[in-house]
Amino acid sequence: MKIAPANEKKAGRNMSGNRQQTERERAPVSRAMGRVLFGWRETALGPKRLKGLMEHEKVRRMFDTIASAYDLQNRFLAMWIDTHWRNMFVRYLRLKEGTVLGDLAIGTAEIAIRACRRYPGVRVVGIDFSPRMLRVARRKIGERRLRDRIELHVGDLRALPAGDAQFDAITISFGIRNIVERDRVLRECFRALKPGGKLQIMELGFPKIPIVGPAYRYYFDHIMPLYGNWLSGTDYAYTYLAETVYVFPSEERFIAEIRAAGFTRTSVVSLTYGMAKIYRGHKPRGGTPG
Ligand SMILES: C[S@@+](CC[C@H](N)C(=O)[O-])C[C@H]1O[C@@H](n2cnc3c(N)ncnc32)[C@H](O)[C@@H]1O
Repeated sequence: MKIAPANEKKAGRNMSGNRQQTERERAPVSRAMGRVLFGWRETALGPKRLKGLMEHEKVRRMFDTIASAYDLQNRFLAMWIDTHWRNMFVRYLRLKEGTVLGDLAIGTAEIAIRACRRYPGVRVVGIDFSPRMLRVARRKIGERRLRDRIELHVGDLRALPAGDAQFDAITISFGIRNIVERDRVLRECFRALKPGGKLQIMELGFPKIPIVGPAYRYYFDHIMPLYGNWLSGTDYAYTYLAETVYVFPSEERFIAEIRAAGFTRTSVVSLTYGMAKIYRGHKPRGGTPG
């Protein structure tokens, strides 16, 4: 079963229309090792089903469905490593007092809450299209007495409910992978950032080192979807999550996409052998695309 062709028109083609390699195609050695070591085989979602699930409304319904148990499932399935990634992500932000941060695809406000704790005097505007994820976020924000510092809005990242040059910084953690029209999202981020503002995105990746790489892929393909789907009470949510990581572009390609939206001074930081990656870019001080 091959994932790329189903998404070729959108996710599988780069901005100049050339076909990209999928993560699976880029790692023949780990695939082979995985097959030998663990009897690795492709995951259960066919290309058609993945393409269907990546439709906007279905993604929203899926996040609504898993919202109430999202934090617990994440902690359990990532074996708490995600808390380290989130702390690093927030540490890299280096926000000054008085900064307005747009946390897009805010989900259950894990990043926004950490940002407020680490940086006094920072305000966060959180945007997400899943009302139930926002409901969980609202409860957590209330419990931590951060209502006066974090505001929440229902909205689509492809057409942000935000004015031009509104944010000093924008974060998207584990959100952009779910959106086929990444170019639209990146352009919206550019528009909503102040000149000189920074964009910081975190996404999942795959370690490229022997043993750890194939072992992680095996976990990703077989163990995580099995338990994740069971915990979320669906037969697809965590299989979908694994597949979206496979169809996400390579590091170089995604940086090229960020630059194509106008950002300069781009960089990538790898966490835990590349299991997560932090991408960064800046809107030029002149305000026009770099
Ligand atoms: C995997 S969760 C990540 C949540 C949070 N940022 C975190 O780090 O845990 C992805 C989030 O993206 C949101 N999302 C996906 N596509 C979106 C879109 N087009 N517009 C707004 N939110 C979207 C989902 O509702 C979900 O809350």
